[in-house]
Amino acid sequence: MIEQDFKFKGVCKNVEKGSVAWSSPSNIALVKYWGKKENQIPANPSISFTLNHCKTTTTLTFAKRHTSNDFSFEIFLDGALEENFKPKIESFFKRIENYLPFLKDYHFKIETSNSFPHSSGIASSASGMSALALCLMSMEKDLSDGLKMTDDYFNMKASFLARLGSGSACRSIEGDVIVWGTHSEIKGSSNLFGIKYPNEIHDNFKDYQDTILLVDKGEKQVSSTVGHDLMHNHPFAQERFKQADVNLSKLKAILKAGDLKGFIEIVESEALTLHAMMMTSLPYFILMKPNTLEIINKIWKFRAEMDLPICFTLDAGANVHVLYPKKNAKIILEFIQNELVAYCQNQHYICDQVGFGACKIKE
Ligand code: PMV
Repeated sequence: MIEQDFKFKGVCKNVEKGSVAWSSPSNIALVKYWGKKENQIPANPSISFTLNHCKTTTTLTFAKRHTSNDFSFEIFLDGALEENFKPKIESFFKRIENYLPFLKDYHFKIETSNSFPHSSGIASSASGMSALALCLMSMEKDLSDGLKMTDDYFNMKASFLARLGSGSACRSIEGDVIVWGTHSEIKGSSNLFGIKYPNEIHDNFKDYQDTILLVDKGEKQVSSTVGHDLMHNHPFAQERFKQADVNLSKLKAILKAGDLKGFIEIVESEALTLHAMMMTSLPYFILMKPNTLEIINKIWKFRAEMDLPICFTLDAGANVHVLYPKKNAKIILEFIQNELVAYCQNQHYICDQVGFGACKIKE
């Protein structure tokens, strides 16, 4: 598939109004995306687990309008008008207009809510942008006359559009393991959209748990957009991009073999490398907090003592994602409750697990 394949090809039916709704999950990267080229093209391939409980639900209501020089929309978060989201949606609409030429012909009401607490420090951009992209695809399907759209194309274009809203959002359409970015050993992989990981995955990785420890619920001091940008003049950027490529190759063998030790090594190294990139950019910055490090050290100690396959990963923030197979959940949850929750803000944490992607709620 090339970019041209995502241009709207049908003829628009005259639909006066309608409403669609989707619920879409967050995802957690195992090999991280950090650094991009123009048009949201990733500097290296990434792979993620789709999550199950951390979701955004979005209802998109549209009504035809007569003047159409600009975008017209209002956005509500949990029922309240949310002006702060407007610039992000406006620039998303600008980026995708080429592929959805009917956008300016409608007024949109975007009503959104998250399953996780609003100020939890968990980024809602992946789940939020993917939910909105899916709603827009349902609308395209309603509007296009005479063209049959396959489910594969629907998902691919939803991922393509979501990517233009927030890179990692393109990995939230389907589950359970998604690759985004061209990789020579992963058939069908693309810089333009995420694909379901096409190779064998050992049962060890089919029911992974992700307990998210909310270390810091505040707004990040440095946004992902700024962080990605700082990879442009970064002294270690080229090596990092090569390393991500190699790590994905290694992970391919690990996922097939069910090699839990190998998995832990790649996943933790990726998390620390992501933060090392932040610490070695100019300007430099640190998103981890003292409690992030306390938790990491506790996990390492517990793992050494108990010989259990528990590991951590980090997003662009201070919160810690604790990853482990379901069969070890009882003892690991006990450890989390007894030893790690004390490092969380207000003792808050979220229990999630690998999931299978977005769900349509209403046509
Ligand atoms: O999708 P963005 O632009 O918010 O970037 C997210 C990058 C990381 O979450 C840090 C890594 C990843 O691959 O998800």
